[in-house]
Amino acid sequence: MKRQANLIVGLQWGDEGKGKIVDHMAQTHDYVCRFAGGHNAGHTIVVGDKTYALHLIPSGVLNPKAINIVGNGVVFSPSDFIKEMEQFDNLEGRLYLSDKAQLLLSYHSKIDQARERMKGDKAIGTTGKGIGPAYGDKVARVGHRLGELHNPQKLTKKILEYFKMNSAIFDVMGVDTPNEDELLSELIEYKEVLEPYITDTTLLVWKALDEGKKVLLEGAQGTMLDIDHGTYPYVTSSTTVSAGACSGLGLNPKDIGAVTGIAKAYCTRVGNGPFPSEDLGEDGERLRKSGHEYGTTTGRPRRCGWFDAVAMRHAVRINGVEQVALMKLDVLDGFKEIKVCVAYEVEGNRIDYVPYDLEDATAIYEIFDGWENSCGARSFEELPKNAQEYILSLEKMINCPIGIISTSPEREDTIIR
Ligand code: GDP
Ligand code: IMO
Ligand code: MG
Repeated sequence: MKRQANLIVGLQWGDEGKGKIVDHMAQTHDYVCRFAGGHNAGHTIVVGDKTYALHLIPSGVLNPKAINIVGNGVVFSPSDFIKEMEQFDNLEGRLYLSDKAQLLLSYHSKIDQARERMKGDKAIGTTGKGIGPAYGDKVARVGHRLGELHNPQKLTKKILEYFKMNSAIFDVMGVDTPNEDELLSELIEYKEVLEPYITDTTLLVWKALDEGKKVLLEGAQGTMLDIDHGTYPYVTSSTTVSAGACSGLGLNPKDIGAVTGIAKAYCTRVGNGPFPSEDLGEDGERLRKSGHEYGTTTGRPRRCGWFDAVAMRHAVRINGVEQVALMKLDVLDGFKEIKVCVAYEVEGNRIDYVPYDLEDATAIYEIFDGWENSCGARSFEELPKNAQEYILSLEKMINCPIGIISTSPEREDTIIR
């Protein structure tokens, strides 16, 4: 018997609807594991009249039988996590945190915001949560890990040393050195709440796979925000693509089974950076209104535009996607014409791949006839003919089957083909 984990990754610039699909798939999985990112993520799950916005807690939390794991690849803010936990009954026994996850503390977000201010009009448009500085400390080998909460006194000393080392630059940024007693009592509080959950999660995931349990790996952000393969420097600081699931949990490539890539039927991005198929006119505005395109984490309006088949082929290949889940098809209801970016023009040449710098690329579109009502459809046959044709054409353009189609935020309004 093959013992592999199923993987879910975002294929665009994040907010594709991963939360809905992870929640859907979590109903048939025993484990749900986050492998990258931090509380910059905002995964929305709608169940009946309740809406949950999850940032660090894996989206399997709404399946009472699933065990949830936060892997070593995550940057972990104890204060935000503790706040998020309060929405749920006792999670002991069904939530585990990697002792190797990097700690993200309040000074990381202050550094993040100070750097963004200093960049002025070159700002990345980060979530301001401290993600870049926390990952930066990790790779510079000056970070602190969740396991260090076992000894708050020692950790306090280490953090104060870190401030001493960085005092010149922190002074310029206006980041104050924490008061020793306050820092210690903050860390003691984190220890008291979190200690029962902190463990070696790699061993847990290995055991689950060895025992033939069904394991689901939940990606955060999206392929075009990947630190290596996205629109650098307008990216996040983690490996968001499927390779990140291995390093972020302690798996090997052969542990990865089916990869489902999540994409909207159109496209959005929050923050700055190139977005060739962005629509700055009425259509973009209409997509924002109909799709409620405002950030789950920061509330910022999302930039909106059309499905980019070129970026999608890139994402399908990098992640090894076997099937795409096409989300928010209903948001296109009522458009007379729907555009799809099929190639880019760069310096007068037509290209069909993602170039070094997307900033120089303009979208070349193919136009499809619109349709009226796909909202709530639960079978492919129920969809309007033009919507069916749109999906069949996208499949050809992206070299990948579209096995799941979502037609509303609700769990049940999901077509499995
Ligand atoms: P994630 O970060 O990838 O999990 O996505 P977000 O939760 O940030 O954003 C997706 C938004 O779209 C959420 O508000 C979802 O409730 C909503 N959503 C998901 N699928 C659908 C769908 O098929 N139709 C509509 N109208 N909304 C959807
Ligand atoms: P989910 O998991 C959309 C974007 C930010 C910014 C860039 C860098 O909900 O899909 P960061 O704070 O990570 O340093 O910001 O990345 N970004 C996201 N955009 N969805 C997300 O997560 C995002 N996480 C980060 O807007 O452009
Ligand atoms: Mg989101």
